[in-house]
Amino acid sequence: MNIIVAVDEKWGIGKNGTQTVVIPEDRRHFRKLTDGAAVIVGHRTLLDFPGGKPLPCRKNIVITRNKDLKIDGAVVVNSLDELFKQLDGTDPDKVFVIGGDSVFKMLLPYCKYAYVTKIMVSPESDAFFPNLDRLENWSLADAGTPKEHEGITYAFQVYINKSPLGV
Ligand SMILES: NC(=O)c1ccc[n+]([C@@H]2O[C@H](COP(=O)([O-])OP(=O)(O)OC[C@H]3O[C@@H](n4cnc5c(N)ncnc54)[C@H](OP(=O)(O)O)[C@@H]3O)[C@@H](O)[C@H]2O)c1
Repeated sequence: MNIIVAVDEKWGIGKNGTQTVVIPEDRRHFRKLTDGAAVIVGHRTLLDFPGGKPLPCRKNIVITRNKDLKIDGAVVVNSLDELFKQLDGTDPDKVFVIGGDSVFKMLLPYCKYAYVTKIMVSPESDAFFPNLDRLENWSLADAGTPKEHEGITYAFQVYINKSPLGV
């Protein structure tokens, strides 16, 4: 499986349950990469989506500890075991972990590629992604081309994990 995330200069990913900086082209990049794929999302991040609803054109797999939760248009799982059963037979290249903080940290070791939108700003954050430049298993495979939106520089980067855990 893969991971997709937008981080700031300090690898911050959000504050008070939401993303602090949004770049429209990053949203398009996200849609393009995840279109038709399975996306794995924590319950809190799902609630931050428009209308608190699953994303269209993707198989949404929502992680929660709430055993009674039912969500129209999504598969709900209560544990990693259930998640992996749900992914059985799915092409791992078509599976993306899309957040948030707790789900990123839990599933990062299983991911082969990390699609990281690096946004060169430093807002205050209370949620952080692990700094992949400091993790031994991970290396930068594509530094991307710097782009600009309203004076903010960003780049679509790709990191690779040399020894992802098997599912
Ligand atoms: N920058 C980005 O690309 C990006 C993308 C997505 C999210 N984010 C940021 O991430 C932050 C939210 O992260 P978060 O950690 O608070 O929330 P989260 O990971 O989206 O969701 C947390 C919830 O997931 C469920 N969960 C987590 N681990 C579980 C496990 N092992 N088993 C069963 N259920 C589990 C629990 O749901 P229940 O409480 O229902 O039991 C938990 O409360 C926000 O700031 C958001 O903006 C950033």
